[in-house]
Order: sequence, then structure tokens, then C-alpha cells
Amino acid sequence: MASDSKLPDLTGLTDSWNRRHLLDLESLSADEIRTLLDVAQELKNATEGCRRKLSLLSGKTCANLFFENSTRTRNSFSLAAKRLGADTVEFGSSGSSTAKGETFADTAKTIEAMGVDWVVTRHSTPGTPNLLARELTCCVINAGDGPHEHPTQGLLDLLTIRQHRGSIEGLTVALVGDIAHSRTARSNIWGLKKLGAHVIICGPPTLVSPRWQELGFEVAHHLDEILPRCDVLNLLRIQFERQNARPFPSVHEYAALYAMNAKRMRLASKDILIMAPGPINRGVEITPEVADGPHSVILEQVTNGIAVRMSALYLLSLADDRYRSQMSVGV
Ligand code: CP
Repeated sequence: MASDSKLPDLTGLTDSWNRRHLLDLESLSADEIRTLLDVAQELKNATEGCRRKLSLLSGKTCANLFFENSTRTRNSFSLAAKRLGADTVEFGSSGSSTAKGETFADTAKTIEAMGVDWVVTRHSTPGTPNLLARELTCCVINAGDGPHEHPTQGLLDLLTIRQHRGSIEGLTVALVGDIAHSRTARSNIWGLKKLGAHVIICGPPTLVSPRWQELGFEVAHHLDEILPRCDVLNLLRIQFERQNARPFPSVHEYAALYAMNAKRMRLASKDILIMAPGPINRGVEITPEVADGPHSVILEQVTNGIAVRMSALYLLSLADDRYRSQMSVGV
């Protein structure tokens, strides 16, 4: 791998950024989301598609604290840090001293004491990144907190749509499936709304709360009826691991009503984008011919995961440096 591609000029894009933590998309402004996406695009271009290295964050260290499984998020945070010249620490709860009774916060403080600049955390309990943002002095990034939010997943989905459509504003985007248990759904819902999309929340009544309608979103229970109007479909995994009781009679019945398949593709617009955060369950929310077909951008989403994570690491680090220099001169 080649290193030290030409450093991009990000001045102007980053001047107004002042957040040291990325905990959700709900609390971000539209301008802040646009900044994260603009910087991600610049860094993707400067690293020739997230493949080459830059020395923007040399000397810094990113710790991944994952208390839940991950393939995409964990590895892409690690690669994003390395692409920008930072070091990484990989913590997995299995095999760690949490088995000896150490608390989540004490574990995080222990890792921070090794000299890290960002803690990236995934945990099954909503709000754990907010807890760390109060307890730690370094930057904190939410890599998924239970069913609450997964902000970098929302950002990579937005970036992928923007690359294909130029803008989010005015698009009709349907989020389909297990909305009740999906942190990806929640981050997409807030991000898409702030950037001006019409958001349809679609799934079985047991997995889509009517409250979304009260908040101004369109709620639908029949995928076939909304398909012709959609510019983008984001197919969410059924999160069996987070459900106390099965919300539909059988997987077969769910797939009959909501799986995106070749027959349903004939109802869709000719340039529809098919997205899925992954991991995908082939035959449940999406069939192989659609997942691997010409409308699918699932693997582009994965690459864009590195871009938005480089952007988040870079922007939080900038704000952190400014904060620390103000503290040191007593501003
Ligand atoms: N989409 C997503 O968060 O995937 P992982 O669970 O593999 O990180």
C-alpha cells in the first residue's frame, strides 16, 4: 500500500465544527451532518477510494471498545484510523477483565489511561456512549448503543445516497423491516429528515410504532404499495437477538410480505437504490438476485464506512485540539 498521498485542503469545511463526541445524529444540525459528509468525501478522494494513507492523525491513538459483535464497524474504524496515520487499540469484551467484575466505565477509563485520543464504543445498552462522554476526557464515538443509534452507519448511508443522487433533499427513502429494534433506522430517520428527504417507515405493525406518524413521518405496512414511489430502499435486518417474542408468525411469512425480490423489483422505479446496513440475511429481507444485482450498493456502503469514520475521527480530533489549547491558556 502506498502512503502519504497529497494532504487535502479541508480549511473552510471544518472551521465551524466544535463537537468532541459523536453520540447520535438526532442532536446534530443539518450543517453539521453536511460537514461530516463533505469531509468524508474529500478524504475518500484524497485516499483514492479509502485505499491509501495520509498522515493527518499521526501520533494519535484510537481505541475500539466493542461489547457486541461487529464485522463492518469495528474493522472500518480500525482502517479509518490507520488510513489517517493513527494507531489503534482493539478491545473485545470476551477474554477481557470484565469477566472478573470490572465495570464498563472502569474498563473504558483503564483503556483511556493508556493514552488514547478516541474511544469508539459499541454496547447493548442505550446511552453508554453518553456515559463515557461524561466519564472520559478523550473523544467518544458511538458505534451502536442497543436499539438507540448508530450514527456512523447513518452517515455512510447518507453519503452513499448523495454520491448516487447528488443530494438527499426531495428524495423518497423507505426504511423497511425491524424499525423497533434498529439503531440504524433511528440514525437514518434523523439524518434523512434533517437533510430534507421524505422518509417512509415500513414494516409489520408489531415492528413499526404509530408514534413515528405523530412525529411527521409516513408509516406504511405494505411494501408493494409504496415501492413505485421510492428512490431508495434501505432493508433492515430482523434483529432476532433483541426481540423478547417473535413479532410475526414465521420468517417465511415476513419474507413473503417484505423481502425485496426479483418480482418486487418490477414494481420499483428503474433507478431505485437498494441498500442494506448488513449483515444481510439472504432470503429474509433481501434475496440474492437483488443483493448482488445492479441496483444494490451494499458493498459501496461498506467502503463509505471507512470514509465517514475517517471524517468523524478527523473532525472530533480538530475540535479536541482546539478545546485543549483553549483550556491550557485559560480561555
Ligand atoms: N452495519 C453494522 O453495524 O455492521 P456490523 O455489526 O458488522 O458492524
